[in-house]
Amino acid sequence: MEERRRSDLASLVPELQGQLSDIEQQFTIRTDDLKRITERFEEELREGLEKHGANISMHATWVFGHPTGQEKGQYLTLDLGGTNLRVCWVTLKGEGNEVDVEESSYLLPDGVKSESADTLWDLITDSLDRFLQEHHLGGDPDHPLPLGFTFSYPADQDRIDHGKLKTWTKGFHIKGVEGRDVAAQLRDAISKKNLPIELVALVNDTTGALIASSYTDPDTIIGAIFGTGCNAAYVEDVGSIQKLKTQLPPGTPMAINCEYGAFDNSHRVLPRTKYDVDVDATSSKPGEQTFEKMSAGLYLGEILRLILLDLHDQGLVFPAQHLPRLREPYTIDTALLSALENESPTSSKAQLAEVVSAQSSEEDSIVCRHLAEVIATRGARLCTCGVAAICRMKNIRSGHVAADGSVANKHPKFKIRWANALGEILDWPADREHDPITITSAEDGSGLGAAIISAMTLQRKMDGHCT
Ligand code: BGC
Repeated sequence: MEERRRSDLASLVPELQGQLSDIEQQFTIRTDDLKRITERFEEELREGLEKHGANISMHATWVFGHPTGQEKGQYLTLDLGGTNLRVCWVTLKGEGNEVDVEESSYLLPDGVKSESADTLWDLITDSLDRFLQEHHLGGDPDHPLPLGFTFSYPADQDRIDHGKLKTWTKGFHIKGVEGRDVAAQLRDAISKKNLPIELVALVNDTTGALIASSYTDPDTIIGAIFGTGCNAAYVEDVGSIQKLKTQLPPGTPMAINCEYGAFDNSHRVLPRTKYDVDVDATSSKPGEQTFEKMSAGLYLGEILRLILLDLHDQGLVFPAQHLPRLREPYTIDTALLSALENESPTSSKAQLAEVVSAQSSEEDSIVCRHLAEVIATRGARLCTCGVAAICRMKNIRSGHVAADGSVANKHPKFKIRWANALGEILDWPADREHDPITITSAEDGSGLGAAIISAMTLQRKMDGHCT
């Protein structure tokens, strides 16, 4: 921590200093903690490849290895995000990775996360219909437009155009989808509306990021999302996926969607604080996504809110103010943590007034900035463990981790903290000239990635493969 921050903290009343140092202790992940967590992480990754029902489910994606860069054709893509539906029409020109993307986003109404499956699929097919009209896209029942659907939730896939939703994550809890094949549900909704569209591939956002980034950067080793949720995908040898019953010969490369947000659901190694326990207990899915709830964007702001509320109830921050917004779950977004760490004291005060309607004194801003740093640092350091464990398991010594998501892209210090922690885990010398494994900005996984995967899938079918 910077000297200035330390001296700011020293100006606070002793009781507050004591509480903050206690919180900092609980949130600090030291090098030996990182190593211990990564070791267990590697065990859980291996368990996921071995058997069904492990914490980390290691989903087969039926995406066979990296793209050649020569993939061609025109594809529709659809991405179900937390606030938007994004639809693209992607043209892969097949030469020198030239691509053209037309896109539109459609707002997902607020309540949709807890609506019925029919409402969700209606909304999606209405948006697809609008997109076809707005972009003058034809297609007929004999020549439907191929669609790659990015579905960023854990889905068990028997084939690439199939995926049984294991459980909703990231605050979604739409009824009638868990345990069902989301590809079949979308296909039915498309056919009810008579849209000239054929679902070709169901893609996780991590796999999309991996493939889109490998298309332009052959050194890509992992596609990772550090955003609302967290997860990664990498390429495995089919022969090492012991749980997979398949005729495919060992040596066949296949992308694995790890779904490692569920790491340590059995609570063996992550140092959970009472705030983490609270985030979990009050979530729509208690007991699930333990790792994600300590490290991903959806939850970092909520952890800050819970700590501030705790200190406020003891009269230590925003004293004598009535703050109903601070009592509302999820009022604080990760954007506030970024702003607090990035900005001047004056704009921190403005941000706190806007987000939780609090009038903050100089001391309150110091506390908030300190907590934002402590929470985001723990998150970034934990995020490194998943990637380090994949590298260890696969004996990967160098390459690029193509990362996407709001935390990776928008938090001012995420990437540097992540990189430092990776060096600590992998014992890189302190005086190294460069890091052998680096974090890069992923290419557009849900547009370009889903289109390339659709192209790879159709090519495979044309070549006579049945999976
Ligand atoms: C989902 C993953 C997804 C990740 C990042 C998690 O909550 O389960 O499928 O890749 O978020 O979006």
